[in-house]
Amino acid sequence: MKHHPQLDSSGRLTHLLSIDGLPREILIDILDTARSFVSVAERDIKKVPLLRGKSVFNLFFEPSTRTRTTFEIAAKRLSADVINLNVGASSQSKGETLLDTIGNLSAMHADMFVVRHSQSGAPNLIARHVAPNIHVINAGDGRHAHPTQALLDMFTIRHYKREFPGLRVAIVGDILHSRVARSQIHALTTLGVAEVRVIAPATLLPAEVSSLGVHVFTDMVSGLNGVDVVIMLRLQNERMNGELLPSAQEYFKIYGLTAEKLAHADRQAIVMHPGPMNRGVEIASSVADGLQSVILPQVTFGIAVRMAVMSILAGGQP
Ligand code: CP
Repeated sequence: MKHHPQLDSSGRLTHLLSIDGLPREILIDILDTARSFVSVAERDIKKVPLLRGKSVFNLFFEPSTRTRTTFEIAAKRLSADVINLNVGASSQSKGETLLDTIGNLSAMHADMFVVRHSQSGAPNLIARHVAPNIHVINAGDGRHAHPTQALLDMFTIRHYKREFPGLRVAIVGDILHSRVARSQIHALTTLGVAEVRVIAPATLLPAEVSSLGVHVFTDMVSGLNGVDVVIMLRLQNERMNGELLPSAQEYFKIYGLTAEKLAHADRQAIVMHPGPMNRGVEIASSVADGLQSVILPQVTFGIAVRMAVMSILAGGQP
């Protein structure tokens, strides 16, 4: 039997490393479980005991606002002990290897590692080296994957649009450097939406993009025509080697989401963005803060989705 890096021999989730390769049933289980956690936030005491006595280590080797904070809130709402490694002040700055750091934290009886790293594959490497009782969650690695972002995006789409089949979804912007886009494309195709479109200048499209089962557009008007969901992406300047675009102003003129361009989508279309967002570069403030924007609800739903992932990995249900 083929070894699967994130499922055990019974098909249960042991690590969450990418959406690619996960069956639809697991994605639906996570989304359904997350739905039951949304109500925890509405209680006076926002806690359930599913991870009581467990230690969750947040290891963020790259900056983060939303993912790191919502993982911490999610773990605390599950009653776990949360340890945030201060990477700048850790012994990695003295030359300790990633695996030695992990070995030492494992010796402190870690139960779960939440890992963000600039190197694609770092969470997979950790997952291959930890003891079988330790779970690894990818919180974004290089250009590879950001599975919990894609899951919270799917939760948001299902919340507003109810059913996946029949939906047309456009992902707009820097597809080339985006781990979020890759994870979203795998999630959307696994969940069976009618059409996934990517809209970007040719310089920001990966060569293999058509093989992912998407329709490619380089023009906003035709790409947005009639879509139900518009997902905007940030220009990831930190991952660009050399000039791929004329200027941020020029990019906004052609690919920035304005009210005029959004008018080509379905009238009930929702607008999403994983953050951090650059106003006036990929999205106009009037759209980011407009009636069709669900950008802040995405963040809120991220807590319930991360609670679901951690509780499923730990073997508990709400
Ligand atoms: N969407 C996302 O990953 O945001 P952060 O980088 O702030 O975690």
